[in-house]
Amino acid sequence: MAVTPARGSPCGWLREREMAVPAVADPAEDSAGREPVWNLGPGAHQCWYPVALSSSVPEGKVLGCEIGDGRIVLYRGDDGVIRAMSAFCKHMGADLSVGGEVVGNGIRCPFHHWTYGDDGRCKHIPAGDEIPRRANLFHFPSREQFGLIWVFFGKAPLYELQTFEDFDEEKHVARSYEVQLSDKLVSEPWMSTTNVFDIVHLRFLHKVNITNSEVEEIDPYRRRMSWEADMGDKAAGGLRLEIYVYGVNSLRTKGDQGGRLKWYIAASVPSVRLGTRFFLTIITTKEAGAVEFLDRQAAMHTQILDEDTPILNNMRLEDLLMVPSDRAMTRFMRSVLKYPRVTMRELERSVQAE
Ligand code: FES
Ligand SMILES: [Fe+2]
Repeated sequence: MAVTPARGSPCGWLREREMAVPAVADPAEDSAGREPVWNLGPGAHQCWYPVALSSSVPEGKVLGCEIGDGRIVLYRGDDGVIRAMSAFCKHMGADLSVGGEVVGNGIRCPFHHWTYGDDGRCKHIPAGDEIPRRANLFHFPSREQFGLIWVFFGKAPLYELQTFEDFDEEKHVARSYEVQLSDKLVSEPWMSTTNVFDIVHLRFLHKVNITNSEVEEIDPYRRRMSWEADMGDKAAGGLRLEIYVYGVNSLRTKGDQGGRLKWYIAASVPSVRLGTRFFLTIITTKEAGAVEFLDRQAAMHTQILDEDTPILNNMRLEDLLMVPSDRAMTRFMRSVLKYPRVTMRELERSVQAE
C-alpha cells in the first residue's frame, strides 16, 4: 500500500524545501468557514482516533464519521462488536450511513442492496451479477473501551491502543465524553499535542505551573513525560502525572490530583468539515464524591482547551524563533513531520486488488 509521508510544514524552521504547504487561514475570517490552518496535506496521520461514544452506535444503527477528509461508517454487528468501514459503496458511491442496514456482521447498501461482509468484501449482488474483484470496502482496525469507539486510520496499527490494564470495575469509575468546545478548532490534532510539551505556555496561558518535567522517547510512536504541577485556581491540590503520548493525537496519564486517583486518556480526531474534536475518558476511585470529582475534572479540561482554541485558530507558523526552553516541543514537532500519513483514497485503493 502506498503511504503518504508527512508533507512539508508551513513552519520555516521545519520546512522541507520543495514541499512547503502555505498556511491558508485568514485571521479575519470566522473560524467556522475556515480551512484547517496547519493541514499538513491530504489525509491524516496513521493513529488511533476516538470517533464516537459507544452509546451513539446502538444495535442496528449505521453511523457516519469523519477522519480528516475521509468518511467512515461505524456499526455493531449481530455479535455486538463494532465494525468500521470506508463509507461509500463501491458500486455507485452511495453513503452507507444514509439508509445502510446491518446484515449479520456485515452491511447492506440501501441503493441496490450490494452486501458487504465484516471484512469489507462484497458478498452478494442481488441483481445476479458476478461480484467484481474491486468491490471491497476498506475495513479499519477498531476497538471499544470505556464507552468510546476508536479507529486506527491505516491498514494495521503501528502501536497498541492506550488503555488501563489495571482498571477494576469494582474499584474504579470511568466517564467518557466528547468535549464541547466553544469554537470550532481548525488546527490538526498534533498542534494540541504539542501543547503538552510546551511547558512555558502551561504556566502563562493556563496558570499550570510545571515544577519538574522529563521526556523520554520510547519508540517513534510513543513518548513518556513526567510532570509535577501546581494547578493554581484550576483545581485544589497539586498534580503529579506520568504522561504517555501516543501517535500525534493522544495522551494517557496515571496520577492523582488533590490526593485523589485520576487517570485519563485525552485524544482528538481531525475533521476538515467539523474541526478537530476531543474525546476524554477520566477514571477515579468509586467513593463518595466521585461524580463531583469527575464533573470538576471535565470542566477543567474543557476550560484548558477553550483557552487554547482562539490562539491555535489564529496563529501563523512561519519563521519561528525557537529557544532552548522550547526544546521538548521542537523535538515533538519535528517528529510529527516524519510521522506517516495516509489518505482515504490510498486506503480504499489498497483493497481494490486483493
Ligand atoms: S450504490 Fe450501493 S448497491 Fe448500488
Ligand atoms: Fe494549551
